[in-house]
Amino acid sequence: MKKVTVNLPGKSYPVFIGDMVLPRIKKEITRSCRKTVIIDKNVERLHGGRIRSLFRDMKGDTEYFVLKNGENSKSLNELSRVYKFLLRCSADKESLLFSVGGGVTGDLSGFAASTFKRGIPLIHIPTTLLSAVDSSVGGKTAVNFDQRKNLAGTFYQPEYVFTDVTFLKTLPSAEIRSGIGELIKYSFLSDSNLFIYVLNNMEKIQNADPAILESTIYRSVGIKASIVMKDEKEESGLRKILNFGHTFGHAIESVLNYRIKHGEAVTAGIIAALFLSNKIGLLAENRLITYLKLPSRIKLPRALTGIDLRDVYEVMKDDKKSKGGKINFVLISEIGSIYIDISAGKDDIYKSLERMLEVI
Ligand SMILES: NC(=O)c1ccc[n+]([C@@H]2O[C@H](COP(=O)([O-])OP(=O)(O)OC[C@H]3O[C@@H](n4cnc5c(N)ncnc54)[C@H](O)[C@@H]3O)[C@@H](O)[C@H]2O)c1
Repeated sequence: MKKVTVNLPGKSYPVFIGDMVLPRIKKEITRSCRKTVIIDKNVERLHGGRIRSLFRDMKGDTEYFVLKNGENSKSLNELSRVYKFLLRCSADKESLLFSVGGGVTGDLSGFAASTFKRGIPLIHIPTTLLSAVDSSVGGKTAVNFDQRKNLAGTFYQPEYVFTDVTFLKTLPSAEIRSGIGELIKYSFLSDSNLFIYVLNNMEKIQNADPAILESTIYRSVGIKASIVMKDEKEESGLRKILNFGHTFGHAIESVLNYRIKHGEAVTAGIIAALFLSNKIGLLAENRLITYLKLPSRIKLPRALTGIDLRDVYEVMKDDKKSKGGKINFVLISEIGSIYIDISAGKDDIYKSLERMLEVI
């Protein structure tokens, strides 16, 4: 089992990662208290027995709220159902709210925990690769509103993150690919260790090999933690590097009406961002060729090939990160050297998208 500690002013918390993490929860949380568990419907179906038996062995009552799976659950409607559940359970600062599921469960539970009675303690148990490498660490919470993703949100750090990689065995392959998209992003943000590791172990990651997942998630969470520790609330700008591949990625998933997974769109977005970095003279040709090897290992959905680039461009122009009609990107000159707020011209953007479509 591995552990990353996220050290923030006023709060530190551990992230445990491994294949025996679930039993660890009992050892860490020994006091008797009321527990509320928000659990994704599929996770309840596939792993509910293990989860319930764990909580039965702990001191204090446990109440469950089964959350319908899917992005639509990150809504005010569902949030109000969660508040009612928490009220009924008399949840308060002395109790613990566990979020058991992927990023949807984590974002909604996190938002509820941060706002209910001005904040009750939160513990994440991520069960998707994406939530293990990304959303469970860093404290961003959100709900969607009026077709806008993450319109309302808070920064709210959990008390613990328990990532048991055995959950990931039951993930559909598209969900694994989605997590790999974010993993690829982290591979470009620090040094070449993670890049080489992910490249060499791609097949094992896709097959949810527990030992490889433990090591991969540990390295990736270490990178995310170090970024969040320097810029918890996106104030200095550093945290913006986490949007590498996302200006293109968000536009692509929106044009495809969310028919492909977020991380798949991010992978396509990273490829386009690599081409754009090269096009504007930041990224040397030999590096471009090396760097493309990683995202090109992912078999992306066919839906991408039919995408209309004009639509992608228009969505990017509307993106909340584009200012004064300019579209801003996070680009790269080499692994670990990331540039934020780089604007690019229409022609270069189109060319980069075209080249992305040629290689996927
Ligand atoms: N807070 C952050 O920093 C942050 C970062 C990145 C993404 N996000 C958010 O995360 C969300 C996406 O998260 P996600 O990709 O985990 O999606 P998700 O939570 O929708 O889970 C994907 C699917 O996998 C199923 N599932 C979960 N665990 C499973 C398991 N162990 N076995 C089988 N099926 C399982 C779920 O039921 C669901 O159908 C988005 O809403 C995104 O905005 C947040």
